[in-house]
Amino acid sequence: MGVDVVTPAGPATVPVVGRSREVELLVAALEAGAHVVLEGPPGTGKTTLLREVAGEADLPFVFVEGNAELTPARLVGTFDPAQVLDRGYGPETFVDGPLAEALRLGALLYVEEINRIPEETLNVLITVMSEGELHVPRLGRIVAASGFRLVAAMNPFDAVGTARISSAVYDRVCRIAMGYQTAQDETAVVALRGPAVDERWRARVVALVRRTREHPDVAVGSSVRGAIDLVRITAALAARRGRDVTDWVTGLDAALVALSGRIRLADSAARTAEDVVRELYRAEFGERPRDDADTVDGGDAPGGA
Ligand SMILES: Nc1ncnc2c1ncn2[C@@H]1O[C@H](COP(=O)(O)OP(=O)(O)O)[C@@H](O)[C@H]1O
Ligand SMILES: [Mg+2]
Repeated sequence: MGVDVVTPAGPATVPVVGRSREVELLVAALEAGAHVVLEGPPGTGKTTLLREVAGEADLPFVFVEGNAELTPARLVGTFDPAQVLDRGYGPETFVDGPLAEALRLGALLYVEEINRIPEETLNVLITVMSEGELHVPRLGRIVAASGFRLVAAMNPFDAVGTARISSAVYDRVCRIAMGYQTAQDETAVVALRGPAVDERWRARVVALVRRTREHPDVAVGSSVRGAIDLVRITAALAARRGRDVTDWVTGLDAALVALSGRIRLADSAARTAEDVVRELYRAEFGERPRDDADTVDGGDAPGGA
């Protein structure tokens, strides 16, 4: 079910590049006792930011993936049928789900992609936010220990369910908008997550990925994840081919793999994603060098005409 409890003693938090303003806003909102939604496109560092803040503040942290299968029972918890036969309904036979666990621990409950969860599950969260407790049939009340907060992430461009996030939710949470970071910060993120490569080339990879967000045929461009994968794939491909990562053809092959599935074309676009990636690659890296096939052998290119 993707439930992953990370306590302060758990996995070390990863360093966050930039985002000092968002960190400050999130810390202040949580200190003030507010529930928070982090809203922004995929890959803008929502999970990274929350892990950092939870780690720094020494807060226990329960993580749950939001999807259509997250029923109220899965979120809250359920009675173990075999145990119930033996011992009846009671606290000993109830298996806490992430919400019950977070309430008891006074933890941060982090719900990824909250827009994807079913309406009934959303209603459970609304109730908990309003009342600070939860009533479970045949178990009784679970009261939120101090420290319990809901932090939700949501992608406003998601085709699924964003319209459903009703004013009932928005009225109970504070909102921190997470936009794309600057080119400089994104380059630093790629440096942190990807292999060591030529710095100028890495910056151009980030520039290429940023171009996907501006192209008129693209509705939603690639996140920084595309840039991280592009650098990793180019490095792997270049090693297999015995070429440099800056090799034009190798970079294009890697760009097609890393980016063509990540961009969502506009409805009006009458072309393929590969086609758009090729165009953007040429715009960023120029046309294929004429002596490209010989660059490994040094400058001794075959004489032209
Ligand atoms: N500001 C940042 N600092 C460090 N790493 C980042 C940052 N933003 C994004 N990343 C990296 O980019 C990837 C996506 O970030 P993530 O936090 O999972 O985004 P989101 O939760 O918004 O989809 C991860 O590999 C993450 O480590
Ligand atoms: Mg995330």
